[in-house]
Formats: sequence, structure tokens, C-alpha cells
Amino acid sequence: MSTTGHTKRITTAQIEAMKGSRPIVSLTAYTTPIARLLDPHCDLLLVGDSLGMVLYGMETTIGVTLDMMIAHGRGVMRGVNHACVVVDLPFGAYQESKEQAFRSAARILKETGCDGVKLEGGEEMAETVAFLTARGVPVFGHIGLMPQLINTAGGYRSVGRSEKEAGKIRRDAAAIADAGAFGIVVEGTVEPLAREITATIAIPTIGIGASSACDGQILVSDDMLGLFTDFKPRFVKHFAELAPLVSKAAEAYAGEVKARSFPGPEHTFKLKN
Ligand code: KIV
Repeated sequence: MSTTGHTKRITTAQIEAMKGSRPIVSLTAYTTPIARLLDPHCDLLLVGDSLGMVLYGMETTIGVTLDMMIAHGRGVMRGVNHACVVVDLPFGAYQESKEQAFRSAARILKETGCDGVKLEGGEEMAETVAFLTARGVPVFGHIGLMPQLINTAGGYRSVGRSEKEAGKIRRDAAAIADAGAFGIVVEGTVEPLAREITATIAIPTIGIGASSACDGQILVSDDMLGLFTDFKPRFVKHFAELAPLVSKAAEAYAGEVKARSFPGPEHTFKLKN
């Protein structure tokens, strides 16, 4: 973590300024070793609360706590020297009041050294976003499909097909941009709406299941690597198939342990003569 201000990592202002240049490359990261591998290729790494499902086997992100986000945020920061790092505010850590949001965001910034926080919500969170940004907290928005609203939304489904839903998402995008966010995740919505929002608001849109019309893209890294295979939404592409490789390696290890062929002489400490 840099405490001197001499970081060479991409800043939140640079992310914002990338709108209209080239597509912004973003992935989630939750641990130091994976962050180290992804960092050279990414503009932005998100310590997403998807870690609840991906790492902890939870069914939703609702059970993720602020302490979990901070622990993983610290781990990611140890592996990064290039990308801008944003940590998710988890469910229950910001919705109660703008003051609660500030206290949670301040803990994340102070205890991880990351560059900004992300929160879900549109018009109803705009006042909170303005409160945070006015007090030195860079904020990334998240609209469209919002996984933290699963219990009221009634399931994970793409949104914005009806004029009523599209109108709400348009207003959400404008409200979060006007409140001072430096970028916004647009999740699970139809291409024409993502294109329109991207053309209308002044900050970058980062799409996940929102088409190539966005200013950048993000995927959950374990999805992209083919490691998380519980289910595969339409918008996910596996750029590798690591799950079978891990299985095969574990099988080979088990075979060698049982056959006593591992550890071999080259892995064994000897007495010196
Ligand atoms: O938690 C997360 O990983 C996210 C991304 C899917 C955008 O919010």
C-alpha cells in the first residue's frame, strides 16, 4: 500500500478520463496471487462482493460483511501495482444512511488502501453518492441488475426490456453520474439501453451482460477462467477451462501419494555427509 501518494497505479480520475478513448478492461479479484496475475492486463480490478458466492459458496451476496470485503481488499492491494482498485460496499453497510455509508467507505479506504468503493443503487442512492464524493470518497455506481436487491427483485434476470424498467434505469444512470461517481457498472440489460446510457452520461459505463456498447467490460474472474462452473449465464465467456485442470492435478496428486511415488528423492531432505 502506498502511503506517500507516489503510486504508479491508475487513478480514479484516469479511469473517468478514459471515456471515449479505448475500452476499459476490468475483472474481479479477491486474493493476492490472482490480483498479481490479472493486474498487468487490467485498468480496474474490483474486489466484488461476488466473492461471497465465488469463494465462500454462499447462494447470494447478502451474507457478505464489511470485514470480509476489507480482508480481501487488503489481499488484493498486496498484489497490485498497476490497476485502479475498487472495493464493493456489501449489503447492509451503506443503505441505512449516508453517514453509515461514509463510515463504511472510510474503513475500506483506510484499512485496504484501495482507490474507491462501489455501491449498488440508482436515484435512491444519489444523495449518498454525492455525500461520499464531497467528502473524499471516490464512488463507482452499479445499476441495472443489482444482486444485492435479489430478495425484492425476486431473482437474477436481465432488466430494461419494458419502457417502465428502461425509464428507471435511465434515471438511475443520470442520477449516479450527476452525483459525482467516476464510473458505473451496468449489469444485465439490453444493448440499445446500454448504448443510449453510454452515449448520454459523462462517466464511463462498465458492462457485464450489457453488450459491447459500454465504455468497458467486467467479468467475474473465476467465470472468465472457467473455475466457477456452478452455472454459466449467457454473458459469460470462459477464456480458459481451469476447473478440469484443477481436478486432474488433484487426481494425479492423490494417485502418486497412494502409490508412494510422491514425494520422490528430489523432494526429500537428506542428511548432509
Ligand atoms: O460483485 C461483483 O463481482 C460485481 C461485478 C459482477 C460487477 O459487482
